Amino acid sequence: MPCSHLIDLNDLPVSEWSHIIDLAIKIKEHPGVYAHACEGKILATLFYEPSTRTQMSFQTAMLRLGGKIIGFDNPQNSSVSKGENLTDTIRIVSGYADVLAMRHPLEGAAKAAALYAGCPVINAGDGGHLHPTQTLTDLTTLQSEKGRLDHLTIGLCGDLKYGRTVHSLIKALSQYPGNQFVLISTKSLRLPQYIKDWMDRYGCTYKEVFRLEDAMPELDVLYMTRIQQERFDSPEEYQKQKNVYVLDTAKLFDAKQDLVVLHPLPRVDEITPAVDHDPRAMYFKQAVYGVYARMALILLLLEGREQPPLLSHRHGDVKCQNPKCITNHEPYLEHSFQELGDMAVCEYCDERQLL
Ligand code: NCD
Repeated sequence: MPCSHLIDLNDLPVSEWSHIIDLAIKIKEHPGVYAHACEGKILATLFYEPSTRTQMSFQTAMLRLGGKIIGFDNPQNSSVSKGENLTDTIRIVSGYADVLAMRHPLEGAAKAAALYAGCPVINAGDGGHLHPTQTLTDLTTLQSEKGRLDHLTIGLCGDLKYGRTVHSLIKALSQYPGNQFVLISTKSLRLPQYIKDWMDRYGCTYKEVFRLEDAMPELDVLYMTRIQQERFDSPEEYQKQKNVYVLDTAKLFDAKQDLVVLHPLPRVDEITPAVDHDPRAMYFKQAVYGVYARMALILLLLEGREQPPLLSHRHGDVKCQNPKCITNHEPYLEHSFQELGDMAVCEYCDERQLL
C-alpha cells in the first residue's frame, strides 16, 4: 500500500517511484499545466540542519505548483531554542501546513515526526541515515540523462559511511535489474554493513576499491560525495580523510564517453572546477531536476494515500544502541525493532543489536 509520508523511498513500491519520475519529467516539459495544482496548500520546511539546495528546491517546488511556504532554517529562531521537543513542534506545524519537509541531524527523526504529524512528512535528510528526495532527484536525472535505471555500473566515491545520499541511492538502485556497484572509499569511510546486506538481499554485486583511477574505466555513473565533516567524532579524523579523493580532468581521461558524473552538492574540493566544463559533469543539471522531482512528490503525497503502520511495536523495552538515534534524545518515543535472525533492527535508524 503506498504511504502518505516519505521517510524511506523503499517504503514505496518501485511502481510509485516510476510514477514520480515520469511525472517530474512531464512537469519539466509542461510546467504551465501544473502551475496552479497546489493553490491553497501550504508546505512547511523545518530544517534543523543547514541546507541550500534541498530546502530551496522544496520551496521552489511548492511555489511553482501555486502553493505557499512557511518554515524555519535555523531552529535557534524557533521555539526549539526554548526547549520545545520535536513532536510538539511537529504537532503544531502540521496544524498550519498541508505537508512538511524536515531535515534533522538525528537518525530516525523523520519517522518520529511522522508518528505525531497530522499531515504528510517528507524526510529531507535524517543525520547520516537516509535522504530519499535526493534519491528521487538522482533517479530523475539518470532516467533523463542516461535513459535508464538498470544495467548500470555505478561508482560511489568518498564518504560512504556518513553519506545519507549514498545509502538511499544504493537502496533504490539495487531494486533495478543488472545494476552493480563499485564502492570507492578509504577503510574508515566504508559503506555500513546494513546497506551491503541490502545489496546482497537483492542480488546486486559490488566491490570495494581504494583508488578512483582503478574504477574509472568501467563506470556508467560516478557519484562523488563530500566528506561529511559534521558527522565525525573528532576533527583529527576528518583531517585525515579530507582531500583523499579529488576528481580532476586527468582522472576522466580513462572514463567512458557517456559517463554521467553526479554529486548531490555542496562540493568542497572533491571535484575540481575544470571538470564542470566536461559534458559528462551533470551535477548542476541534477540540482535542477531536484525541483521537478519534489514537485511530483508533493503532488503525490497531497493526493492523500493510506498510511500503513510506521512501527511494529516490538521489543519496546530494548533501547537502541545508536547514540545518534532520535529515540535516545527524545525520551517519550517508544523504541521499536524488527527482528532479523538473532538481531533487533531499530525501526527509526536501522541500527542493529543482538536480542
Ligand atoms: C547532501 C546532504 O545534505 O546530505 N546535500 C544535499 O541535500 N543536496 C550532501 C552533503 O551535504 O554533502
